[in-house]
Amino acid sequence: MQQAGERIAMVTAYDASSALLAAQAGIDCLLVGDSLGMVVQGHDSTLPVTLDALRYHVDCVARGMARAAASQPPTRPWLIADLPFGSYGGSLEATFAHACSLMQAGAQMVKLEGGGWTVPLVEWLVARGIPVCAHLGLTPQHVHALGGYRLQGRTPEAASVLMQQARDLQQAGAGLLVLEMVPAALAREVTEALTGCPTIGIGAGAGTAGQVLVLHDLLGITPGPVPRFVRNFLSGNPSVQAALSAYVAAVKDGTFPVDAQHAW
Ligand code: KIV
Repeated sequence: MQQAGERIAMVTAYDASSALLAAQAGIDCLLVGDSLGMVVQGHDSTLPVTLDALRYHVDCVARGMARAAASQPPTRPWLIADLPFGSYGGSLEATFAHACSLMQAGAQMVKLEGGGWTVPLVEWLVARGIPVCAHLGLTPQHVHALGGYRLQGRTPEAASVLMQQARDLQQAGAGLLVLEMVPAALAREVTEALTGCPTIGIGAGAGTAGQVLVLHDLLGITPGPVPRFVRNFLSGNPSVQAALSAYVAAVKDGTFPVDAQHAW
C-alpha cells in the first residue's frame, strides 16, 4: 500500500462486534492493543494487562474477522496483537512461546515496544515465521521509566537515537513500525529513511505511511481528557459504522491528521 501511495488505516479492536464494524468500514489493520487495559479494564496504564487477557481479546476479535471474511463483500484486515508488558525480553524461547500463543489465537503479527534491546527479539521471531510490528517514541509500557505520557524524540540527540533504533529494527526484519507521540518532522524523516517497513503514526503528524487510533478515543467514549492528537469521529456522524468509515476516509485522503492540530 505504501508503494502504491495509499495510506494505511489502523484502529484498535477488542471484541468481535467492533472488529466486524471496523472491517466493514474498510479498515486495513486491526490492533488488539494492550490499551485494552485502560479503555476496557479501567486501569490507569497498560502494565497490568496479562498475556491471558490479550489472548482472550485476540480470540474475540478473530471471531469478528471470520464473520467479516464471510460477509459480502468479504473483508480481511490484517490482525496485529500486542505482546503485553513482561511477556517479552526474558528468554528468547519464552518470547517465542508467548508470541506463538497470540498467533494461535488468530493474530497475524505481534507488536512489541522499544528499541535497542528488542532488536534480537525481532530477529528471533521473524526468523521463526512470526511477523513483527515494532513501536518507538512514546512506548506506554515504559511510562514510569519515561516519566509520563510525553512527547519523545524532541532533542536532536533523542531524534538521532530514535532514527538509529528504527533502522536497526527494520534491519532485524520488523514489517511495520508504530511511531507514537514524536514530532511530525521526525516521523516524516523516519518514514522516508525506511524501506519495506511502513510507519504507522499516532500523534506523530501526517508524514507516516498510515495512522492508528484507539477505538474509544476515535468514538469519543474514553473517560477523561484525551490527547490532543485525537479527533472524535462520532461527533457529526450518525453511527459507529459511519464514524469508522469517516476515519478511514480521512486517513486515506490525508485530512486526518492535520500537523498543526494533531501533532507537535
Ligand atoms: O495498545 C495500543 O492500543 C497501542 C496503540 C496506541 C498504538 O499500542
